[in-house]
Amino acid sequence: MNRIMEVRLQKLTKVFVDKQKKETRAVDRLDVVIPDGKLISLLGPSGCGKSTTLFMIAGLHKPTSGKIFFGDEEVTKLAPEKRGIGLVFQNYALYPHMTVRQNILFPLENMAIKREDAEARVLEMATLVDIQELLERKPGQLSGGQQQRVAIARALVKKPRVLLLDEPLSNLDARLRLQMREEIKRIQRETKITTIFVTHDQEEAMSISDEMVVMDTGVMQQMDKPQDLYNYPVNLFVAKFLGNPPINTFEGFVKSNKVYFGDIVVGSKKIPDGKYTFGIRPEDFRVDPNGFNISTREVSHIGRDTMITFHAEDQELRALVDSDDVKGLKEIKLGVKAGKIHAFDLETGDVVKEKEGV
Ligand SMILES: Nc1ncnc2c1ncn2[C@@H]1O[C@H](COP(=O)(O)OP(=O)(O)O)[C@@H](O)[C@H]1O
Ligand SMILES: [Mg+2]
Repeated sequence: MNRIMEVRLQKLTKVFVDKQKKETRAVDRLDVVIPDGKLISLLGPSGCGKSTTLFMIAGLHKPTSGKIFFGDEEVTKLAPEKRGIGLVFQNYALYPHMTVRQNILFPLENMAIKREDAEARVLEMATLVDIQELLERKPGQLSGGQQQRVAIARALVKKPRVLLLDEPLSNLDARLRLQMREEIKRIQRETKITTIFVTHDQEEAMSISDEMVVMDTGVMQQMDKPQDLYNYPVNLFVAKFLGNPPINTFEGFVKSNKVYFGDIVVGSKKIPDGKYTFGIRPEDFRVDPNGFNISTREVSHIGRDTMITFHAEDQELRALVDSDDVKGLKEIKLGVKAGKIHAFDLETGDVVKEKEGV
């Protein structure tokens, strides 16, 4: 394979202007370094600028401003076919009249490459994505997952410097999606090709990525390893976007290092007195005899875990606790695990951290 490639985006910006001269700032001053040989996800809600970013990296959209580097080479103005990228879309975009073999071979047609070398490369790629048995079939005779494997083989056959995947699993049913997730991860590990994976599905991104870039309205919110994003979100948007069931949020206040939600003392946090938006993940509650009383609404056992839905200050919150901990209890009291109350600025939504060593 080719030398692995770091991809750098410098203040990358795309503003679309429609016929009425209305501007859409689809991507806004994106500064990202995508490390060599890693799989990075661009994650965010629909319309946040993920595809636009990917298309600029591919050369299909011209940036309004900013720069793109592959390694030391600036590619901002380079034609798409000269960038050395492989692209895979949600709709596999295979040629229906060609066999799988012809589809994978197609990108090599205009290259100065010997026929037998090309054929060998097709077989190598087909083996990599595990469809070597299907080479003589037409796309219409394949399942969605198999078609997506062909699309990946076709994207890789020219040995690109960077592999770009735009929601490649969205058209697959749930079971296939899980399976192809693992497959993409495996293929990426085997080829070590720098890969950018676009998805709106946080679970998918969490499970597949070395690091994730979380975007909202064209702006990067945070880039980090999945677990660090989950545990240390820099703002309310990231906290809410990651996690299923989602993080509980409520407006409360801090007085003398105690976190209040109405009359309830939820826990402690060493931040200045005042009002905040707080976030607590369901699994960060625990059954605690010294905790606060809850008026339970609903308790449902999900195997090892028990989901407790309760009300506080007219708001519904959810706690996920160990089933053994609530067995036989008449009344449940809850506390929060140490350090697991997130505080965010009421206005900006930015995280407010505890002072170290106080
Ligand atoms: N070709 C285009 N012309 C005008 N606006 C566009 C175009 N492509 C995307 N947009 C707008 O740019 C924003 C980002 O779109 P997109 O990058 O497709 O989001 P995502 O892939 O995250 O769903 C959206 O508001 C979308 O409507
Ligand atoms: Mg998109």
